[in-house]
Amino acid sequence: MATHISTGTAELRDITKMERIGAHSHIRGLGLDDRLEPRETSQGMVGQAKARKAAGMILKMVQEGRIAGRAMLFAGPPSTGKTAIALGMAQTLGPDVPFTMIAASEVFSLSMSKTEALTQAFRRSIGVRIKEETEIIEGEVVEIQIDRSLTGATKTGKLTIKTTDMETIYDLGNKMIDALSKEKVTAGDVIAIDKTSGKITKLGRSFARSRDYDAMGADTKFVQCPEGEIQKRKEVVHTVSLHEIDVINSRTQGFLALFAGDTGEIKPELRNQINAKVGEWREEGKAEIIPGVLFIDEVHMLDIECFSFLNRALENELAPLVIMASNRGKARIRGTNMISPHGLPPDLLDRVLIVSTSQYTSEDIEQIIKIRCEEEDVTLSPEALAILSRLATDTTLRYVLNLISCAQMLAKKRKAEVVSGEDVRRAYDYFFDEKRSVQWIQEVGSTLVTEEDNRPAGRSKPAGGDAMDQS
Ligand SMILES: Nc1ncnc2c1ncn2[C@@H]1O[C@H](COP(=O)(O)OP(=O)(O)O)[C@@H](O)[C@H]1O
Ligand SMILES: [Mg+2]
Repeated sequence: MATHISTGTAELRDITKMERIGAHSHIRGLGLDDRLEPRETSQGMVGQAKARKAAGMILKMVQEGRIAGRAMLFAGPPSTGKTAIALGMAQTLGPDVPFTMIAASEVFSLSMSKTEALTQAFRRSIGVRIKEETEIIEGEVVEIQIDRSLTGATKTGKLTIKTTDMETIYDLGNKMIDALSKEKVTAGDVIAIDKTSGKITKLGRSFARSRDYDAMGADTKFVQCPEGEIQKRKEVVHTVSLHEIDVINSRTQGFLALFAGDTGEIKPELRNQINAKVGEWREEGKAEIIPGVLFIDEVHMLDIECFSFLNRALENELAPLVIMASNRGKARIRGTNMISPHGLPPDLLDRVLIVSTSQYTSEDIEQIIKIRCEEEDVTLSPEALAILSRLATDTTLRYVLNLISCAQMLAKKRKAEVVSGEDVRRAYDYFFDEKRSVQWIQEVGSTLVTEEDNRPAGRSKPAGGDAMDQS
């Protein structure tokens, strides 16, 4: 039995959670007011009012901790903002609530079983807020004295540190000496040392030393010498996900695996131990569970085994809110011959709140194009804007947003600041949208390599031919 479960406190603070995705970098939230009413244009969000409002209501319930273990589905044609709204939700949640995003097809490409991949995604989406008491040493450095052995291999030293009320000398080991020199700590610095992790934080230079002009940069911050005891107890609160606790405690992986992103499979026994331990912490008031959000994009790409896993996992006490998105109308459920709405099995659909997204009006499209241009630092001529807006109705919004940077390239090539209608037309000629590509395939069809459709029934053939899929 592993009795000590580590939460990797100090190290984890430095891991960044999510990288922004270029195509959605203009989305900064859902753009709702305090009453959850969607503002016309706000936080990069335009139109799609009903879906945004629904998303806001669901978020509110998540934040109040009322909606773990439920699921919702954004259903709508391609390019209608399903992913954008989900990312807007993520940004509204705040740093403490975990948000995980996966594309359903990732589940099949990882070097682990489908259910393990989904389990990991679930556990990434559950936060554990942990209260810990740590002891810190805080004061002004009076002197650092280091003695090297003759070979230089070992170092010992002493650190003299003071507050306005007292002064203490600490013995230093190798590790502390290295840490102090890495942080370039010198006499006159006010520092804090976390006793459990050994982490050193420089708080500033002591005012008393403000007249030592050497060793001072222009950005030196001056602080008062601390008062009172040198050693203090401090309560720190931090949030880690269940998955992070799993990985840190799995003997074969260890903490570094989190950086590499290569976590492999985790043994169920370990997860049971961790669940039990977290349960204990909760009873002792040391930890709190924060159900987060798991977003599964293109959910129709999951197969029947994954869906039945989802069904079961949602029943679990430690389940997040699961948000899914699908652009399918009626479609085959992968791994079966069954046709079902959105490509989801009926028993899963039954427990899902469905929010639909619809095609944008031309005003909305124009507004979104303008926002993207600001984001990408592109200036369009009125003609270019008009052409792009019209194109978006004929093709898709996503295609048009992609054209913006291509047209800008062409403008730059002729050393123009403003993208003209002609730049857009030429970009449109260079790069096909889906419709023209299909047309082109029909024209040159016989010269391209075509894959025979001879896979057994029910194996991963996306079911086409429905209203939603073909906008
Ligand atoms: N309501 C909106 N406001 C601002 N930008 C949007 C909005 N809806 C979609 N977009 C942008 O349009 C593009 C396509 O939308 P996306 O969310 O990827 O569509 P879907 O996931 O429904 O296929 C993305 O770049 C997205 O950021
Ligand atoms: Mg999408």
